[in-house]
Amino acid sequence: MKAHMRIAVLGATGMVGSRVVDEAQARGHRVVALSRRPVGRTAGHPNVTPVAVDANDRHAVREALAGSASGGGADAVVLAVRTMPVDEEFLVGTTRTVLDVAAELGIRVLVVGGAGALRSPDDSQLPVADNTAFVPDDIKAVAAAGVAQLLTCRSHSKSDWVYLSPPALLEPGIRTGGYRRGTDTLLIGADGRSWISAEDLAVAVVDELDTPGSDRHVTVVHHTESPST
Ligand SMILES: NC(=O)c1ccc[n+]([C@@H]2O[C@H](COP(=O)([O-])OP(=O)(O)OC[C@H]3O[C@@H](n4cnc5c(N)ncnc54)[C@H](OP(=O)(O)O)[C@@H]3O)[C@@H](O)[C@H]2O)c1
Repeated sequence: MKAHMRIAVLGATGMVGSRVVDEAQARGHRVVALSRRPVGRTAGHPNVTPVAVDANDRHAVREALAGSASGGGADAVVLAVRTMPVDEEFLVGTTRTVLDVAAELGIRVLVVGGAGALRSPDDSQLPVADNTAFVPDDIKAVAAAGVAQLLTCRSHSKSDWVYLSPPALLEPGIRTGGYRRGTDTLLIGADGRSWISAEDLAVAVVDELDTPGSDRHVTVVHHTESPST
């Protein structure tokens, strides 16, 4: 574990990214908060430097991760971008850009991806993206984009990445600090639900950066009985 890192968060104003910014700065890390409109929850904290970056601009992403605008290069980058409606080409392109730049700079990458990239809990051969119990037709394209994003990571041999799949449901909530961690299979909590708050997902993200595991694909689910395992 590196005591105080400089963590870049791409998608820093989003549901996930803003919680990762909060969690990382609360642990004493410096945060470079990247998005096209870097305002909102990321503004005003001394450990947080908001920088405007369009993920489509490879040069700007490189400058931001190399630290040209924020006074120091990043030790790790969290990728948490999303578009509405889903744009698979953008997601895959941005993921490749971040992996390329991070490999050049020697930076670890944590991709906050999708639950669709996991295996089904009751059938390991069935991707969650193809499982109608978890992915109804109207979000099939979102799930497929997450799968394509994971394949992009897998095809990138040069970079140090980890892909974190949320459980089926991820929404704003409270920070308990607890969660259960798994690898490539969707987890169901003790209450029968595959769910976590964005706050607890952020705890898992920063834990993974503070104490990197050897798994490339990880997932988490809510777990309130005891602190994180
Ligand atoms: N159950 C699940 O599997 C599940 C559920 C929810 C989310 N997720 C995943 O979690 C990740 C984050 O999602 P979220 O809900 O936090 O997204 P979100 O709230 O929609 O936020 C998206 C972020 O991406 C930034 N962004 C969009 N386009 C950009 C661009 N061209 N350049 C730079 N930044 C850009 C936005 O800021 P600007 O618009 O200012 O640029 C914003 O900060 C995504 O990968 C999503 O698929 C998974």
